[in-house]
Amino acid sequence: MKYSGYAYIKTIGCQMNVYDSEKLAAILNSYGYEKTIDMDKADIVVCNTCSIRHKAEEKAFSFLGRFAKIKKKKPHLITVMAGCVAQQEGEKAFARVPHLDIVLGTQAFSRFGPIIDAIKSGKKKIVDIKNSAMIYEALPDTSCFEENKISKFVTIMQGCDNFCTYCVVPHVRGRERSRLPAAIIEEITLLAAAGVKEVTLLGQNVNSYGQKEAQISFPKLLAAVNDIAGIHRIRFATSHPKDLSSDLIYAIRDLDKVCSHLHLPVQSGSNKILKKMNRGYTREKYIDRILKLRKECPDIALSTDIIVGFPSETWEDFKDTMNLLREIEFDSIFAFAYSDRSSAPAARFSDQIDEDEKKERLNNLLELQEYYTGKKNKQQIGKILDVLVEGKSGKLRDGFDHVQKSMEQMVGRTQSNKIVHFPSKDVIIGDIIKIRIENAYPHSLWGHPQGA
Ligand code: SAH
Ligand code: SF4
Ligand code: F3S
Repeated sequence: MKYSGYAYIKTIGCQMNVYDSEKLAAILNSYGYEKTIDMDKADIVVCNTCSIRHKAEEKAFSFLGRFAKIKKKKPHLITVMAGCVAQQEGEKAFARVPHLDIVLGTQAFSRFGPIIDAIKSGKKKIVDIKNSAMIYEALPDTSCFEENKISKFVTIMQGCDNFCTYCVVPHVRGRERSRLPAAIIEEITLLAAAGVKEVTLLGQNVNSYGQKEAQISFPKLLAAVNDIAGIHRIRFATSHPKDLSSDLIYAIRDLDKVCSHLHLPVQSGSNKILKKMNRGYTREKYIDRILKLRKECPDIALSTDIIVGFPSETWEDFKDTMNLLREIEFDSIFAFAYSDRSSAPAARFSDQIDEDEKKERLNNLLELQEYYTGKKNKQQIGKILDVLVEGKSGKLRDGFDHVQKSMEQMVGRTQSNKIVHFPSKDVIIGDIIKIRIENAYPHSLWGHPQGA
């Protein structure tokens, strides 16, 4: 059916949720709803949720909670909880958010349209958390949906079979499923035709792409994407250390469009904790992979995820993690205090760590990493780096005061995923230009276009 009105979409969580929200927006668009950034205008509100940690889950409930009052004044407003918390809670979501109309699980997107029709024709409170095979092929194409986008996410596989003991993902995203290579290539070709220059291939375990279905391997898929005209940069996330094959390392080394950056979550530097987490590798094996990677790709930037305060983590275990940061010198890290998730087994492990203690460890870790992030940024000074221009930047850097008023401060990214600010009056968004790096800040770089 076609309706008319506005849709407001709030996205919480990872890059896959960003991709999913675009799909939801495209479905709503095909049903006549125009996307709005003004919540007050909305006739349908969708919160695409994340349950990875307690805080993310609370954010979803508090966002949706705000609509209790609004719905009283505006009874036709449709409220939707989509994504990972929806999948996890199912029917129970109505107890916490009584005014909610739709609970749309992670695999129910292809049924979203008919569900809206049912609500419009008077049906109340619909839950769909049924499992489905890969869903994306059944959804509208989003290549022309958002204009002026130069960088896009493309989900190539969904779900996870690893069952790390702290993690909800296998429970909320289901078993690992890979999309067909032809569908991925078609989607990226459409994106390239719409002006997209950079794609980030997404999966919870992206480097095991295709293994289960015995279709082409991830390095072969990268090679196929590398051949798509118009695409200049390829990124991918998230890779699992246990599946970091030599073939993938060679693909990063040899494929010109694949960026020289790898996000490889280690989670802990202690073998005892890695075992309890069920990560499937040891500290030594992780380091061995990094050494191999650095041998083949000496300039590669590395980032990781760390959990501190996992049940039974002692100060000795934590020190092993601190020492791993010293040994590897990551370009950046994402660090989290362990959060109990009732569907994950670690919630029932003994020796849970006190919240204050977790916070202290987290602060120590972040402080240590700040040094290495700064060090890596400073190492860029004097280099001439390829920067993909993303747009005008908001906050002006000190150096900008000294340049001509006719210039704009622009922002872009290096291959290594570092943010670069620079002045220019004639660069085109989406171009890759050479920037001479002159200064380093904690989270960004500053420079001038070569020759300027
Ligand atoms: N598939 C990816 C990451 C998925 S979730 C991987 O395997 O690495 C993103 C990050 O959230 C994880 O890397 C982990 O560091 C963190 N995380 C997951 N569950 C968590 C929990 N229960 N508490 C705290 N952090 C968690
Ligand atoms: Fe979660 Fe582990 Fe799967 Fe990553 S590999 S999504 S941390 S279960
Ligand atoms: Fe969160 Fe679901 Fe992504 S739990 S991290 S939104 S897969």
